[in-house]
Amino acid sequence: MSLIAGNEIYIGLMSGTSLDGVDVAIVDFAEFPPRLIHSATTPYAASMKQQLEALCQSSSTTLDELYSLDARLGEVYAESVNTALSMASVDRSKIVALGCHGQTIRHSPDSTSPFSAQIGDPNRLAVLTGITTVADFRRKDIALGGQAAPLAPAFHQFLFHSKDENRILVNIGGIANITWLPANSECPVIGFDTGPGNTLCDYWNRKHRNSSFDEDGAWGRGGTVIDDLLTRMISGEAYFCQAPPKSTGTEYFNAEWLSSYLQDEYDARDVQATLIELTASTIATAISVLAEPANCFVCGGGAHNQYLLERLDASLPDCPVSTTAVLGLDPDYVEAAAFAWLARERISLRSGNIPQVTRAQRAAILGGVYRAD
Ligand SMILES: Nc1ncnc2c1ncn2[C@@H]1O[C@H](COP(=O)(O)OP(=O)(O)O)[C@@H](O)[C@H]1O
Ligand SMILES: [Mg+2]
Repeated sequence: MSLIAGNEIYIGLMSGTSLDGVDVAIVDFAEFPPRLIHSATTPYAASMKQQLEALCQSSSTTLDELYSLDARLGEVYAESVNTALSMASVDRSKIVALGCHGQTIRHSPDSTSPFSAQIGDPNRLAVLTGITTVADFRRKDIALGGQAAPLAPAFHQFLFHSKDENRILVNIGGIANITWLPANSECPVIGFDTGPGNTLCDYWNRKHRNSSFDEDGAWGRGGTVIDDLLTRMISGEAYFCQAPPKSTGTEYFNAEWLSSYLQDEYDARDVQATLIELTASTIATAISVLAEPANCFVCGGGAHNQYLLERLDASLPDCPVSTTAVLGLDPDYVEAAAFAWLARERISLRSGNIPQVTRAQRAAILGGVYRAD
């Protein structure tokens, strides 16, 4: 751990349910707002992505497969950090700690013995980077009866709260989550997963086209929303009308979930338009329930899907939609910056969860510390 007085540089590592790769953010918290010194995304190698996909969706993984992937992923994370440090010309001795979310392979907060499982060995990260590593952010919240998700709302509150306007942060990764930040700070922050973000659109795009996602939503834009399919998906899925706190994952919203609604022969492009509409309309409905005008700021890879943003904007007449870029933070690195901040909260012995968001019994210091020495 860096002992330089006043040093406040942390690294955040995020790899979400889209399985697209590892986001690294080097963030200096010495001033407010914090400064993003460097950011980079390292896409997963095809074989890593394939093995992670298999692990996330299958129930027949062996322990050997699980733990060797955990080890390899720790090395991949360390490589991303070491590359980022050299690209940014930042000396590792200046880094107080790094916060690593890990790769979620199961999220099951409502089962009889609830759990949320992330892999990516933090011991390797600490050893191979020489930087104190904070990981395992979610299980304390689960132990306190919480959902362990979403965790970003506390960071959203720290960075984006404004006393002049209500704000809503919308993170569109594989799964989408929102954070309601009322201008009146006496009112509670609300945050929850709304359902699928990009995950179903990515899956459908991969199945029908030779690419990993629908660039700008251009393919979906050319389709026609299938009203009957959209209505059946929305009314047939209890999660969408369940009251928060709630969280979900790609072990639930996946190819199997989609195929249970695709009884008829549909045009593939029309299905894509419908899936984009599903994401936009479930986010919009979740926001409408809050029933107050607000400015809406999108982050996550979904911020690049122009068609999705247009549909969201059209569905939210009282909430103008833009991205966190207008608030000064690149939408691609909000989540990684959140884990840099959560590492800082852990090292400073401050709590990282918001109990009314996760339903944990109390606020708690989150994460385990893996020292480099
Ligand atoms: N140019 C783009 N056009 C449309 N969608 C995009 C674009 N860039 C990224 N995305 C979407 O964002 C996803 C990655 O978002 P990300 O925030 O990293 O999600 P996660 O946190 O689940 O990894 C991609 O899988 C893709 O669906
Ligand atoms: Mg990602």
